[in-house]
Amino acid sequence: MNSTIEFCKMDFLKEKLRGLDTDLILIIADLNVWSLYSKKLSLLNIDGKKILLWKAPDGEKVKDFENLSSALDFFLSRNVHRKAHVISLGGGATSDFSGMVAALMLRGVKWSTIPTTLLSMVDAAIGGKVAINSPQGKNLIGAFHHPENIWVCDSFLETLDEKEMSSGAGEIVKYALLSQDIYNKVVSEVEVKSLIKDCIQFKEQIVTEDFKENGIRKILNFGHTFGHAIEKEYQLPHGIAVVWGILLMDILFNDGKLKTKIYQTIENLKIELGESPWLNKEFPVTSIMTYLRKDKKTTSSELIDLVVLNEIGKAEFLSVSFNEIENKLSEYKEEIKKLCSI
Ligand SMILES: NC(=O)c1ccc[n+]([C@@H]2O[C@H](COP(=O)([O-])OP(=O)(O)OC[C@H]3O[C@@H](n4cnc5c(N)ncnc54)[C@H](O)[C@@H]3O)[C@@H](O)[C@H]2O)c1
Repeated sequence: MNSTIEFCKMDFLKEKLRGLDTDLILIIADLNVWSLYSKKLSLLNIDGKKILLWKAPDGEKVKDFENLSSALDFFLSRNVHRKAHVISLGGGATSDFSGMVAALMLRGVKWSTIPTTLLSMVDAAIGGKVAINSPQGKNLIGAFHHPENIWVCDSFLETLDEKEMSSGAGEIVKYALLSQDIYNKVVSEVEVKSLIKDCIQFKEQIVTEDFKENGIRKILNFGHTFGHAIEKEYQLPHGIAVVWGILLMDILFNDGKLKTKIYQTIENLKIELGESPWLNKEFPVTSIMTYLRKDKKTTSSELIDLVVLNEIGKAEFLSVSFNEIENKLSEYKEEIKKLCSI
């Protein structure tokens, strides 16, 4: 089952909620987004609907058990029924979290999402993967639960800071490397906003083919295995960590052959990558290996599935042993140390 994806003006969101087939709407809103937009959106009074609002701690902080339990408690103690509809208003952290609430409540109620960051518009809101984090790693507790509707209003991006825009653009680097068409658009320097639709279409097509990630969908994890480990180790924004993950994969499994093209996309997308967090220091191999061993793509105690790219648009899967990765990290130690921003 696919989601309905619509591009719309912010002013129409209230109408979209009014049109839902339910009398009970459960809004989960990122705190920052709510302070910025609640007046303009005016979602708390909709004829014929009871609205409950749970304000979520902003960003990644929400994705833990305590918040999951607190949101479920809040809604369940207010007589939620099976036709209740959860609305996520916020970035990828909010949609990952809201989707989990929707997946668990009464064994699953419907949900829709209003992505408010670039990263959530091009990636996190699409595809029905929902999750919270655990102390052992990112997104280790989760489910597949498609949102019914994804309403994309790019005017939310007007209040997004540069760091978060760069993070979203980081996921566009991934798409540009996976799709020759998107790469061509990126290098012809089109505006970032105009790439949102292309990225959504690319992801939707893959998700439609392989919802539960048994095959082709795995390519969307390109750069993410190292990305998640780097994100955890250095507390970086998700999309920025993914770019470092992509650059590392290119060094380790492709002799750095795509480096120039990767840097070209980073530059054209105006990504503020900054210096690598390990510049002039040792790359934290032990800690990164600990995260990799706990990654969801681990297929045995010794093997992990990686996505490798030797050419734009030509992703391949590789089952690699942790020993091999550790050896490569040591073999390419000097190149990794020199990895820095443009
Ligand atoms: N489910 C998936 O398929 C998938 C894919 C990619 C990433 N993700 C997840 O997405 C999360 C990252 O999401 P994100 O990058 O969207 O960031 P985010 O949700 O963590 O939000 C980042 C910050 O931006 C603020 N913000 C959000 N919208 C804003 C706006 N319009 N104006 C001003 N500030 C705004 C938030 O308050 C927060 O402080 C990670 O947890 C990652 O694991 C999920």
